[in-house]
Amino acid sequence: MKMNIAILPGDGIGPEIVSQALQVTEAVCKKFGHDLTYKHALVGACAIEQTGNPYPDETHELCMQSDAVLFGAIGDPKYDNNPSAKVRPEQGLLGMRKKLGLYANIRPVTTFETLIHKSPLRTDIVTGTDLMCIRELTGGIYFGRPQGRSEDNNVAFDSCVYSREEIKRIVELAYKYARQRKKKVTIVDKANVLCTSRLWREVAQEIEKQNPDITTEYMFVDNAAMQLIQWPNRFDVIVTENMFGDILTDEASVITGSLGMLPSASIGLHTSVFEPIHGSYPQAAGKDIANPIATILSAALMFEYAFGLMDEGRVIRTAVDESIKAGVVTEDIASGDKSYKTSEVGKWIKEYILNK
Ligand code: IPM
Ligand code: MN
Repeated sequence: MKMNIAILPGDGIGPEIVSQALQVTEAVCKKFGHDLTYKHALVGACAIEQTGNPYPDETHELCMQSDAVLFGAIGDPKYDNNPSAKVRPEQGLLGMRKKLGLYANIRPVTTFETLIHKSPLRTDIVTGTDLMCIRELTGGIYFGRPQGRSEDNNVAFDSCVYSREEIKRIVELAYKYARQRKKKVTIVDKANVLCTSRLWREVAQEIEKQNPDITTEYMFVDNAAMQLIQWPNRFDVIVTENMFGDILTDEASVITGSLGMLPSASIGLHTSVFEPIHGSYPQAAGKDIANPIATILSAALMFEYAFGLMDEGRVIRTAVDESIKAGVVTEDIASGDKSYKTSEVGKWIKEYILNK
């Protein structure tokens, strides 16, 4: 198959982890005989520094022409500590999501048996967790207008906005995936307080009626945050709005032992983007210590979701499992003193794929 992808490493550890995922992608293409072409482009703080724009037009053009985008991370403490900065790296990510129409962010959460002891939760709670969080990505409070300050600068406001259409397409997607999984959908909202959440529930109830083979439950987000760590394996597909999904998936990621393990797929109207759910981890940038697994598993999702190549995805996942079993892991998930560098983990996984 011809595969044309855009590589957007971004900031911090982004370049290091993306280059590992790219090598793994190349290895898989070589093994299965796919014709891979790719180009790099700027996004985030590095794009601001070089062009003044966190998501330059050139980068957008490249993404639009690509079958898929492999993305690292964006963000720089320089901007975090300066709330009055007019241009911010995060605007690059949000602009990209909006312009590419990436309305669904899929974040699968599964445990690795060999890492269960790393979880802050008890083994009996965590064992068997296999859930998928579907986060709405182009609406809600992240994008709602009006947003800003009062004239006297003493009041700030954001708006949470959702249309029926935006809710419908994402809730329908949740049912589609639940049907291929354990046939349960949990709709997370705050319908006891928020008007947008009441619209979510109204629309979801209509879709629920059309899907009688799927079990539906409605849960307030505060309760969901609690149940997620008390009883994570009660969930199958969770679907929720943008900000609730942002928060719940960071929480869900620690269930598995490390934030460095969780991949994501953002799908939508024009192309799809694959990225780890963790951030740019600036303290580790350039040190070759960051965990590349979330990005490598994002490449696995790319084969599956963007190209429908299920065996290729499976091969990557198996190689990652084997690297963990062999103890070839970065310091965040290592047991004992021995840990490996980012590049050593990537190389091990790549070679496992090529030699198997
Ligand atoms: C994520 C990140 C982003 C978000 C930030 C960097 C804007 O936390 O992808 O989860 O909030 O969506
Ligand atoms: Mn987040």
